[in-house]
Amino acid sequence: MPGDLPASLLPSRSPYGPRRSEAPVIASPHVSARMIPVARPLMPGSTRLMPYLQQIDQSRVYSNFGPLVRSLEARLAAHFAMPIGSVLTVANATLGLTLALQALGAPKGSLCLLPSWTFAASAHAAVMAGLRPYFFDVDPETWALLPDMALHALESRTNRQIGAVMPVAPFGHPIDIAAWDRFAERTRVAVVIDAAAGFDALRPGITPAVVSLHATKVLGAGEGGFVVTRDKHIIAEIQRRSNFGFSGAREARVISTNAKMSEYSAAIGLASLDAWDETRARFHAVARAYRAGMAGVPGVELQSGYGTDWVSTTCIAKFTHPGLPSVDTIAGKLAAQGVDTRRWWPRVLPEETAFERFGHDRTPVGIELSDRTLGLPCFVDLADDQVACITAAIAAAIGAPAVRAGQSGRRRQQHLAAEMAS
Ligand SMILES: Cc1ncc(COP(=O)(O)O)c(C=O)c1O
Repeated sequence: MPGDLPASLLPSRSPYGPRRSEAPVIASPHVSARMIPVARPLMPGSTRLMPYLQQIDQSRVYSNFGPLVRSLEARLAAHFAMPIGSVLTVANATLGLTLALQALGAPKGSLCLLPSWTFAASAHAAVMAGLRPYFFDVDPETWALLPDMALHALESRTNRQIGAVMPVAPFGHPIDIAAWDRFAERTRVAVVIDAAAGFDALRPGITPAVVSLHATKVLGAGEGGFVVTRDKHIIAEIQRRSNFGFSGAREARVISTNAKMSEYSAAIGLASLDAWDETRARFHAVARAYRAGMAGVPGVELQSGYGTDWVSTTCIAKFTHPGLPSVDTIAGKLAAQGVDTRRWWPRVLPEETAFERFGHDRTPVGIELSDRTLGLPCFVDLADDQVACITAAIAAAIGAPAVRAGQSGRRRQQHLAAEMAS
């Protein structure tokens, strides 16, 4: 069928079965049943959840820092080789970021320096914490706001107004937290790391880092998140603010909110942690397949370190060659070949209506990234032959032969491309 993927390359029905393709099962109204979707989250199934749900039945504790929440926090701390008490779960990362900024005492009305190219949640959190976002450009290699860039901003005319900085780990790229610890020590400016997608690459330190446990992340709880820092006072302060301002006594001591994680979310988080090694291996296999396939497509780069140093639920391709068509054109061609894609961060935040009124520097790198990057299909059971098909479709969309995929890889891509075109 022209423009359609071979039936054998459609999404798998058996997520933790062999990484092979079967008949499609796609519920999204936005994606035709013949498309490889850009995302297909998978939370632990009922069998893995059952022991935890039975514990909830026994305890009859459903929220308010119950035993499963405590267990999840302890296991996350152990995962990062951090002491007990260094992790606090929250209802979602957006609230975790907000409360961390407040807990650090970033002065109300001051500027919060943010990368221009990030997800809206980063800036929403700053506003909810009573700060004014100020958008700064990102580094072209890491796609992140780096400490020396923030120092430069501090030394510029906005100097005295910057009360906080929120670096973002773009799509799970590592952030050098030790460098941010030194920055915070030197400048006394509040720093909170938005590591929403950064579970795999995260190496925590003193600066609080906030990770999302949304279903779309590598480690999921449906909705949820956690803050991790060696600073136990900050953990206590965020916890109080996540629980109506109560600490011990039933008296609200500070204007706060409810950002607690329920026992049910913790159950999912624990079951996800049980499966982490397997999940990581699967995402790693997907990333390796992309690295191998894209090595043969000139003019396109994958995010630095993706699949070699860390894994993520997003595979971001940057179309670097200046002669290439726009990413929207490429996305249209891929859609015609049955490959769904997404511009995850399609514009810099100063261009988004909600944030137009806030200040920003020139952000040419952020604008280039928003214009030249495309999220490719990425999910735990994306099969190697699907990835080969996607990379062949990309090569066809940009008019480039897949040249360095190796002899057998090249033959297979040619075969797949021919099958797709038939
Ligand atoms: C960079 C960034 N920050 C914050 C968030 C918000 O996370 P949550 O959905 O847990 O609130 C996301 C979500 O994808 C994100 O990508």
